[in-house]
Amino acid sequence: MELKDHVIIVTGGASGIGREACLALAAKGANLVVADFNLDGAEVVVGEVQALGVKAVSFKVDVSKAEEMSALVDFAVEKLGTLNGIFNNAGIGLVKPFLEMDPASYLKVIEVDQHSVYYGMYYVAKKMVALGAKGTFVNTASIYGSIASRGSFNYNAAKAAVIAMTRSGALELAEYGIRVVGVAPGFIDTPISGKDAEFKETLAVQHMSGKLIDPAKVASVVAFLFTDAAAAVNGSTVAVDDGFLAFKV
Ligand SMILES: NC(=O)c1ccc[n+]([C@@H]2O[C@H](COP(=O)([O-])OP(=O)(O)OC[C@H]3O[C@@H](n4cnc5c(N)ncnc54)[C@H](O)[C@@H]3O)[C@@H](O)[C@H]2O)c1
Repeated sequence: MELKDHVIIVTGGASGIGREACLALAAKGANLVVADFNLDGAEVVVGEVQALGVKAVSFKVDVSKAEEMSALVDFAVEKLGTLNGIFNNAGIGLVKPFLEMDPASYLKVIEVDQHSVYYGMYYVAKKMVALGAKGTFVNTASIYGSIASRGSFNYNAAKAAVIAMTRSGALELAEYGIRVVGVAPGFIDTPISGKDAEFKETLAVQHMSGKLIDPAKVASVVAFLFTDAAAAVNGSTVAVDDGFLAFKV
């Protein structure tokens, strides 16, 4: 129970990687705020983690709105008494060729995938420093924060910024006992990857195993990064990509 009595916010906790992270963190004893746009889904996950013996509450949030992220942080402390970190994970994709990447399509993804991570880090850091609480932030980047992918100018920019914010945040928050790390998933078998089996196969072959990655395999790395066993990992983003960045098909 390495995270017993820790309180951690998980954004995008209703589905995919976020839901699996809630289960993995609860298995280590963490109390959780499951935050998502999808409140019904978040409430289901709250029930699942409570069954593992931890305290959990849900919160409906649009992570792209600063005031809602600030309210989420206040809610966490009001309901669970303290705060020891956040998994900044909620995200979307919006694929379009660059010549159709109008400002609205660009900004939508920047606001949800990039600005949300800053809001999460900023409001949680302010609260933790005020409380004198220590802990960890984990940010979800992507393999596509390190390389280009077609139709994803917005997503590539946002995820590269997440990797940069992870470094800069770690540098400035170390003195307060807050570690900031990232994960860069490859192609994960979640709703974001779609339902088309043929398309999924084109993704799967880009992994060393030839298979999509189970979201639980990302969650186990995330949960580890929150623990003291990962105390020497700081400012870096860990690839959880089954070798994607290591070879070319
Ligand atoms: N699935 C992949 O292949 C993959 C690869 C690399 C990175 N990622 C990243 O992993 C993260 C999680 O993705 P996933 O695959 O689990 O997808 P998912 O669609 O299963 O889960 C995303 C969750 O985020 C929530 N969400 C979306 N926009 C929101 C908003 N504005 N406010 C609050 N909640 C919001 C959704 O309701 C959903 O529950 C994302 O940041 C994504 O970019 C995914």
